[in-house]
Amino acid sequence: MFDPKSRAWIVPSLCLISLLVSLEVDGSPAPMILLESAVAKGAVCLDGSPPAYHFLPGSGSGVNSWLVFMEGGGWCRNVTECVERTGNFRGSSKFMKELSFSGILGDNQKTNPDFYNWNRIKIRYCDGSSFTGDVEAVDPATNLHYRGARVHHATSHANVAECLQALLSGCSAGGLASILHCDDFRNLLPSSANVKCFSDAGYFIDAKDISGADSVKSLYTDVVNLHGSTKNLPSSCNSMETPSRCFFPQYVMPTMSTPLFILNSAYDSWQIMNILVPSSADPGQAWAECKLDIKKCSSSQLQTLQGFRSQFLQALPTSNSTGMFIISCHTHCQSGGRPTWQDVDSPMIENTTIAKAVGDWYNDRSAVRKIDCEYPCNSSCPNITNE
Ligand SMILES: *[C@@H]1O[C@H](CO)[C@@H](O)[C@H](O)[C@H]1NC(C)=O
Ligand SMILES: *[C@@H]1O[C@H](CO)[C@@H](O)[C@H](O)[C@H]1NC(C)=O
Ligand SMILES: *[C@@H]1O[C@H](CO)[C@@H](O)[C@H](O)[C@H]1NC(C)=O
Ligand SMILES: *[C@@H]1O[C@H](CO)[C@@H](O)[C@H](O)[C@H]1NC(C)=O
Ligand SMILES: *[C@@H]1O[C@H](CO)[C@@H](O)[C@H](O)[C@H]1NC(C)=O
Repeated sequence: MFDPKSRAWIVPSLCLISLLVSLEVDGSPAPMILLESAVAKGAVCLDGSPPAYHFLPGSGSGVNSWLVFMEGGGWCRNVTECVERTGNFRGSSKFMKELSFSGILGDNQKTNPDFYNWNRIKIRYCDGSSFTGDVEAVDPATNLHYRGARVHHATSHANVAECLQALLSGCSAGGLASILHCDDFRNLLPSSANVKCFSDAGYFIDAKDISGADSVKSLYTDVVNLHGSTKNLPSSCNSMETPSRCFFPQYVMPTMSTPLFILNSAYDSWQIMNILVPSSADPGQAWAECKLDIKKCSSSQLQTLQGFRSQFLQALPTSNSTGMFIISCHTHCQSGGRPTWQDVDSPMIENTTIAKAVGDWYNDRSAVRKIDCEYPCNSSCPNITNE
């Protein structure tokens, strides 16, 4: 991370070099950097600890290119759920450790041809609001800090002057954040820079659950209210819609202007488990097995899943500048690991891997709008197990 104030890299370079020597086959160790300086600006995790990110520097043709990847991990919708997070890495950097970069973050040219030599940052997720929260007051009873948007701002401001191209990305709650923050991020960088956004498993749709209730809408309303997110949702949408609607990509994307790529499964395992069949909608647990393993679904359950897929496809943006890769694997998040990003047996649509699709779209080699055939088709997913 380039610190504009001191004009210096806040990277422990000696430590970085010694770690790189111990390169693993399936990923590169990426040291963790605690951003202590952000605490003074109130940019902190739920428990008040400093935000953290991991960084590997770019090289060669990638030195002025920046990939910012936001970690995912659901949301906390009420005080109880947020307090629970303060006892682990989802709400406190005290529990975070070094991790390794793979997939779109990896530095293997063969499996990551378009981004392997970029500067790569992974922002850790410790706010429970998809990086949108901003409440000044801290409740003395719980010491909870709702400051996700400040964390995003403090950690994602790359070296603006030197940035020629950038991609804001993330998976799950981080994939949603990459949509919600896309125009902001674009506006932060020089207008001459090529800036785009890439959401992995972040296209959560506004659908009713199997009991007919609006479970996900109620979840997002709680999250937006608890974290004070409204002012950090895209202003393009906020002016037209009730605030919590702007947490849904399908309503917010048509109002935004920066090019976006959507990687998602039409049978996303998190969405099936939490949007279509939350436990509140299945008290008899008739879906218990099917939710975990699509092969165990009955024919009527499968029919319900096909209906969900139709709703998902209908909710996708129609603009042909939006790139997309909509697979039919029962999975969630595919860009952060080499087996799904690009490797032997990684999922493909029309012989195209995810890495190639995203690279082709980012570099304008071709427009990419790929939608896989309906499950159980045979075009992809040989090595994906359910999550
Ligand atoms: C918090 O939300 C969860 C999930 O909806 C619910 O089970 C729990 O009762 C809620 N807790 C409070 C204190 O509202
Ligand atoms: C998008 O659609 C318009 C109108 O149909 C067409 O002119 C344009 O070439 C398309 N762009 C891409 C990237 O396919
Ligand atoms: C995919 O590749 C196989 C083998 O290389 C080829 O036979 C097939 O026609 C290709 N399919 C498409 C849709 O390009
Ligand atoms: C692939 O799927 C198509 C359509 O579902 C089917 O007709 C075909 O037999 C399948 N091929 C293989 C090799 O499974
Ligand atoms: C995928 O699974 C096959 C066996 O089904 C295995 O041989 C292969 O190594 C796996 N590939 C990856 C990338 O894990």
